[in-house]
Amino acid sequence: MAKKKQATWGGRFTAGPADLMLTFSESVSFDARLAPFDIAGSKAHAAMLAHVGLITTRERNAIHRGLKEIEAEIGAGKFKWRRELEDVHMNIEQALTQRVPAAAKLHTARSRNDQVATDMRLFFKWACGEVDHRLAGAQRALLALAEQADGLLIPGYTHLQRAQPVQIAHHLAAYMEMLDRDRGRFAAVAANANWCPLGAGALAGTTLPIDREFTAKELGFVNAKGRPQVTQNSMDSVADRDVFIEFATAAALVGTHLSRLAEDLILWMSSEFGFLTLPDAFCTGSSLMPQKKNPDACEILRGKSARLQGNLTTLITLTKGLPLTYNRDLQDDKPPIFDSFDQTIMALEVTAGTLTGATFDAVACAAAVSDPALLATDLADYLVEAGVPFRDAHHVVGAVVKLAEDQQTPLDQLATADVQKIHPALKADWIEVFDLKRAGARRIGTGMPGPKQVKKQLSRWKKRLT
Ligand code: ARG
Repeated sequence: MAKKKQATWGGRFTAGPADLMLTFSESVSFDARLAPFDIAGSKAHAAMLAHVGLITTRERNAIHRGLKEIEAEIGAGKFKWRRELEDVHMNIEQALTQRVPAAAKLHTARSRNDQVATDMRLFFKWACGEVDHRLAGAQRALLALAEQADGLLIPGYTHLQRAQPVQIAHHLAAYMEMLDRDRGRFAAVAANANWCPLGAGALAGTTLPIDREFTAKELGFVNAKGRPQVTQNSMDSVADRDVFIEFATAAALVGTHLSRLAEDLILWMSSEFGFLTLPDAFCTGSSLMPQKKNPDACEILRGKSARLQGNLTTLITLTKGLPLTYNRDLQDDKPPIFDSFDQTIMALEVTAGTLTGATFDAVACAAAVSDPALLATDLADYLVEAGVPFRDAHHVVGAVVKLAEDQQTPLDQLATADVQKIHPALKADWIEVFDLKRAGARRIGTGMPGPKQVKKQLSRWKKRLT
């Protein structure tokens, strides 16, 4: 027996799709979440059709009423999604047509190709705002922790070797910069999404007298002056997936930043560093070793970054070989986008939660930063101020470090007479260089880790985040 013909496009078919084909090709299982955007798009489209006289005001009102009802049903979880109707667009249109006869006119001058492009642009504009909100939340958690660590010093590292002393607040503020650039990237994605593709039809527009600017305005695709912004090429409108790739890129970068932060926290919580403890609420134990407290949230954050990069790779690969214009491959653009969105939101919330309960061990931090060798560079600067060229100063301090190693004594315990034999510019006050307070107080340039600068930066963040 022939399968039932497809209700929306089945006109030229004698048989309906195989069950396996339905399972393979449906997208409603993942695109149903576009319903609010799809409904907004349909309301605007109906309003435009009435505006240009393609439907009556009465028909428009009936369509709007029906869409409102469906929206409420979906919101209440009462809407019956049907797999055989393929996607969110046909599910909503069919349900509407069943209750509102005028809905048979809704798809006038519209294709699912410009419809899905519009839905997704509306989604991106909304989603970028949601991510921005969470990015600001993670920044606030970083700021609170930085304030809690006020004045605490640790070694800053290069090559994971102790390098120079920095304030913990300064180290944490580095991540605030990263997250701020992320916010800029998501704002740019939202701006790029702010062009309405509706009216491009399947690929070649329509012969009907539609008003694209009207629809764009209805949907909020407007510039700062309130002027409608519509896409400028009908083929590009339905084929383009740049914003998808940009969104996934921005999310992958958030993932990278959170992964690096997570790695720092993991190191700091290890017994080898011992700088901080992460909150129980975001750690787990071992099923075998009773003493263990593992930084699992941070490890999962590190892992998520791989997943976010994977989503970006999926999208950029999905798009690269496609001829213009729409190809059904593009249906698979949604799972990676929704996954990147969901995972980014959750990762940022987990980051904020993990940071919020963290506490520093001031004794362990002080011990780690107590090695005077961390200020060897400051000693070279001391020589520069005495007129020694930096390259020579570097060598001189290298010799001083070697002497300390040979004598198996900390740098600041060497006899002044011994170091003066290495270079006469090392006067009696050379030892003052190893005072951490002096080292901080001298770092006054913008962006440096001295207490004045760090304070200034933190108050800048405070202003920006409240
Ligand atoms: N579910 C489809 C997608 O997400 C909608 C567009 C379908 N267009 C088509 N010509 N079959 O891409």
